[in-house]
Amino acid sequence: MKKWMKAFALAAICVLSAVTLAGCGGQGADSGKKVLKVGSSIDFAPFEFQDEGQKEYQGFDMDLIRALGKEMGYEVEVNNLPFDGLIPALQNKTVDVAISGMTINDERKENVLFSDPYYQAGLTMVVRDDEQAIQKFTDLKGHKVAVQIGTTSAEEVKKIEGVEIHELNTPADCFTELKARGVDAVVNDRPVNDYYIQKSGATGVKALPERLTAEDYGIAMPKDNAELQKKVNEALKKLKDSGEYDKIYAKWFGEQK
Ligand code: ARG
Repeated sequence: MKKWMKAFALAAICVLSAVTLAGCGGQGADSGKKVLKVGSSIDFAPFEFQDEGQKEYQGFDMDLIRALGKEMGYEVEVNNLPFDGLIPALQNKTVDVAISGMTINDERKENVLFSDPYYQAGLTMVVRDDEQAIQKFTDLKGHKVAVQIGTTSAEEVKKIEGVEIHELNTPADCFTELKARGVDAVVNDRPVNDYYIQKSGATGVKALPERLTAEDYGIAMPKDNAELQKKVNEALKKLKDSGEYDKIYAKWFGEQK
């Protein structure tokens, strides 16, 4: 074996064993506390996002998973991954759970387990303020539409005939493209669109009222970990019964459900 090959093989072994030792949900070596490795695509305010200059990830999902982890006796460690990398990360056990505004659907259920639903959402559209031609989803025909890659928005827009779909990495990229007139509409989850328009002071764009789908968010877990699924569901129920879920909900969405 050439020297560089040896070095490469050695490095590969180190990486592999480091991953195994870090273990999924295993005993944290120094803290003595169990670690829950969480995957999330930190690009989806108010569910998961990071304010400029701030270290901490924040949002509804982040508060919820920290509360769930505490309830289950885990220390929560969040890894920022691209949205379309979350299910692969669960499949190769890089993470124990994924919480990322992820919609529960049959296609995903072939590859992962989901917790009970924890939030109701669905898809809406954002267009420029001066947009005349697009008022309903059926108006999208003949237009360019941006969606985040790997999402239910991408799935749904592909079903609409005659649309030129632009699959981008993040919702922020989609909004940037809309403002730059590279696309005519963005399809994305309603609470995220609303937050973008109302809270982040977006200008020149508006959200349309029509809802294309009704979707439930769930926490995703590896297909073979029914035990974890049970624990997560029990903890979720506890948080709902104790009123803690409602507190987190009110913090991000106001009192109304
Ligand atoms: N609810 C949609 C889906 O499951 C979009 C989720 C996107 N989440 C994110 N953190 N970017 O496909």
